[in-house]
Amino acid sequence: MLNNLNPTTTLSWKELEMHAHEMQQRHMKDLFAQDPDRFDRFSQQLEDILVDYSKNIITQETMDLLLRLAEECGVKEATEKMFNGEVINGTEGRAVLHVALRNRGNQPILVDGEDVMPEVNEVLDRMRAFTRRIHSGEHTGYSGKPLTKVVNIGIGGSDLGPVMVTEALKPYWIEGREVYFVSNIDGTHLSEVLKKVDPETTLFLVASKTFTTQETMTNARSARDWFLEQGGSSEEVAKHFVALSTNAGGVKEFGIDEANMFGFWDWVGGRYSLSSSIGLSIALTVGFDRFAELLDGLHAMDEHFRHAPLADNLPAKLALIGIWYTNFWDAETEAILPYDQYMHRFPAYFQQGNMESNGKSVDRDGNPIEDYNTGPIIWGEPGTNGQHAFYQLIHQGTRLIPCDFIAPAVSQNPLGDHHAILLSNFFAQTEALMNGKTAAEGEAELRADGKSDEDITRLVPFKVFDGNQPTNSILVRQISPYTLGQLIALYEHKIFVQGIIWNIYSFDQWGVELGKQLAKAILSELKGDGPVSTHDSSTNGLINAYKGWR
Ligand code: F6P
Repeated sequence: MLNNLNPTTTLSWKELEMHAHEMQQRHMKDLFAQDPDRFDRFSQQLEDILVDYSKNIITQETMDLLLRLAEECGVKEATEKMFNGEVINGTEGRAVLHVALRNRGNQPILVDGEDVMPEVNEVLDRMRAFTRRIHSGEHTGYSGKPLTKVVNIGIGGSDLGPVMVTEALKPYWIEGREVYFVSNIDGTHLSEVLKKVDPETTLFLVASKTFTTQETMTNARSARDWFLEQGGSSEEVAKHFVALSTNAGGVKEFGIDEANMFGFWDWVGGRYSLSSSIGLSIALTVGFDRFAELLDGLHAMDEHFRHAPLADNLPAKLALIGIWYTNFWDAETEAILPYDQYMHRFPAYFQQGNMESNGKSVDRDGNPIEDYNTGPIIWGEPGTNGQHAFYQLIHQGTRLIPCDFIAPAVSQNPLGDHHAILLSNFFAQTEALMNGKTAAEGEAELRADGKSDEDITRLVPFKVFDGNQPTNSILVRQISPYTLGQLIALYEHKIFVQGIIWNIYSFDQWGVELGKQLAKAILSELKGDGPVSTHDSSTNGLINAYKGWR
């Protein structure tokens, strides 16, 4: 079990509060001017990933205090408990072992005294063999044609990870392979995908940890109906439908043969499951060897996180810098801004990863958290698109928005000088966010534009901005399965460290249950004819308007 400690009661928290007060008077521009070694001091390279966190409102004292906070809150001890398979998901009474899924060193990891690695390896072996059979054409569709199209039906953690990874790794797709994802219960999603595939060459993966999720089960049933209507028979469903799940009973009840089920375990959280059988769509799209390289990258970052001292620990340092702004600067949100079009779903993936994990307001002792904030709002879009949409507010709005900028040094599509232009924007934005623009600079700009003295005096205030907006820059040599794996684990462990310090349980998501329960009750009311009067006046009014219009 994890300890229970209100972080605000630690000595370091109190010192951080005082220190934050002093730091409000400092500007990053001055911190850079005073310390020529600032980049070396506050950046770290791990293999092909360079993390520069020097453009933060921090000094060595800030980092030292934050590191002490991590020590006082038992981050290292909690990390060991996770890797050792202890029950650290205290609300659901489970171990938290996504790290076992990519434990490439194969050291035993015990859950209830049993080593989980043989089971993990067995599923990986089955995934490898299945991928080979599909790619070689040994496993064909009912008419003997190869299954070249994959439709993954899943939602949340059973969708976002595979979508994000297959998009990020598009340059690695095996020629002739197509993958589609259906998540939304909105019939439009499935209908549009079904227009692009044909029953003879399509393999459906029904991806659901619980195999009870309303959206996934409804989409899966409709996909099966479509398959049968299009000429497939019920015996042939077995060739075209595969289940990725922990729920063998549910899979059987749906009508998928257990031989076509790839399992995983309750100690894998949905949003941490892309390296389990939930990643089968990834293996089918880029090949199993590439999937294994992704696992290698995840494992490399796991090892770094487990063994590096906190002061040299990238996930821990990014977590602590996040805590610095959330808890001592009242930042509400964090932006993830990949300067790589292929990485366009990375922010959405970690929006779930972070917000479902750390969106909690009850501490590990069951008490409401009243004196500090927990998980931030995560959002983001790829650069440079975001620059032409929401960066204005980051530069000149009233809020502090810490941003992570991520970019590959080497493009997968070296087209003219596109990549140099992209990267010039990547570098320029963090510089601009740090420096801002002084009145003198604003004035010179207006003068160069030929403005009159009167106009200059009037317009200068609108040109000025303070800068001092914090950013991390994550420069990756190239996005490959391996480096992508490292980046994913970097963010996963950042979330873990923050959850430990905030004294919350990061691995349940009970907040999403109420809406699901109410939707079930409302669905049966929607099926009836008469007006509804069982809710508040707003909900009744909306339901009855819908009934009148449909
Ligand atoms: O709605 C929340 C949630 O439980 C997520 O945590 C999960 O990733 C998603 O639904 C899908 O769940 P499942 O894989 O069981 O279908």
